[in-house]
Amino acid sequence: MNTNPPIYILAIESSCDDTGVAVMHNDRVLSNVVAKQDIHEQYGGVIPELASRAHQSNIVPTVEVALQKAGISKHQLSAIAFTQGPGLMGSLLVGSSFAKSMAMALDLPLIAVHHMHAHILAHFIEEGQEKPTFPFLGITISGGHTQIIKVHSHDKMELLGETTDDAIGEAYDKTAKLLGFPYPGGPFIDQYAKEGNPKAYTFTKPKVEAMDFSFSGLKTQIMYFLQKNSKGNPNFIKENLADICASIQHTIVSILMDKISAAVAHTGIQSIVIGGGVSANSGIRKALYDREKTHQWKVFIPKFEYTTDNAAMIGIVGYFKYLNHQFADLTTVAFPRISV
Ligand code: KG4
Ligand code: ZN
Repeated sequence: MNTNPPIYILAIESSCDDTGVAVMHNDRVLSNVVAKQDIHEQYGGVIPELASRAHQSNIVPTVEVALQKAGISKHQLSAIAFTQGPGLMGSLLVGSSFAKSMAMALDLPLIAVHHMHAHILAHFIEEGQEKPTFPFLGITISGGHTQIIKVHSHDKMELLGETTDDAIGEAYDKTAKLLGFPYPGGPFIDQYAKEGNPKAYTFTKPKVEAMDFSFSGLKTQIMYFLQKNSKGNPNFIKENLADICASIQHTIVSILMDKISAAVAHTGIQSIVIGGGVSANSGIRKALYDREKTHQWKVFIPKFEYTTDNAAMIGIVGYFKYLNHQFADLTTVAFPRISV
């Protein structure tokens, strides 16, 4: 029988444009609340200044809702965990300052969490599912990240490759904007791609070293392709939307799969753990699951609410750090850029 007292952690995620607050009971989620910021839609991308202001107004009500949903009083909490970075400085400052104040007011330990570790360790949130075993390859794909990480243990991670310019989600969103889709456009490309021919148009893949990525050239290539074809036929995009989306999707998925394959060959590791909002993409999921059949890869894709930015993933890392007594003091600061 487990006689250890229960650990309740309140976790805060504010690295970008979503204010997330979760309450964990050990490695299980009691509540996981995300306050989205619709304000950015009209600008076609996240405006950092507006994001930090929205965090300021969202954070107190989001914490209250998370505690209420969890059925926990703040006096039952064991620790406060927060995202230390990487992310937008103004956004991180709101979450980190709030976490420090709450820890100080309640006299609780404070836990600083690396956002990228959290994306990967989200797979350890207990929901009765099979967990990845170490070592594995952590692939973070979102609007802000594109990384291939060799994960040795809960807190030892090694960066093998990353984007040298745009993140994969940016590649989706920026090309989607050229096609006239609202922000974020990634899901629209995915949706239309399902109806189109992926071989209708050919885009060249960037030549980048080893396990690194580059997406900015692809965006420019697509921009010129659309401009050229729209000159001859102003309705080119409208008439060929599904085929264009399918061809873009095919190219992006193929770039990603090439790099994951390179990492598998380099490390000999066939356990692939995905995190980040772009893992919702149907083309990427299909390509990965196909490799399970053809190459004996083992693929882990978490539930959607744990792939996009959320505080439960901060909470699970907080739990592991709590068990290891890895606490931060009140002089801890947020870092917009920190290495893995
Ligand atoms: O992890 P996330 O919610 O936020 C961060 O960027 O950190 O990821 C959002 C990104 C956006 O770029 C969005 O377009 C992309 O994930 N995304 C998708 C799909 N669903 C979300 N991209 C392609 N296909 C999708 N189905
Ligand atoms: Zn993220």
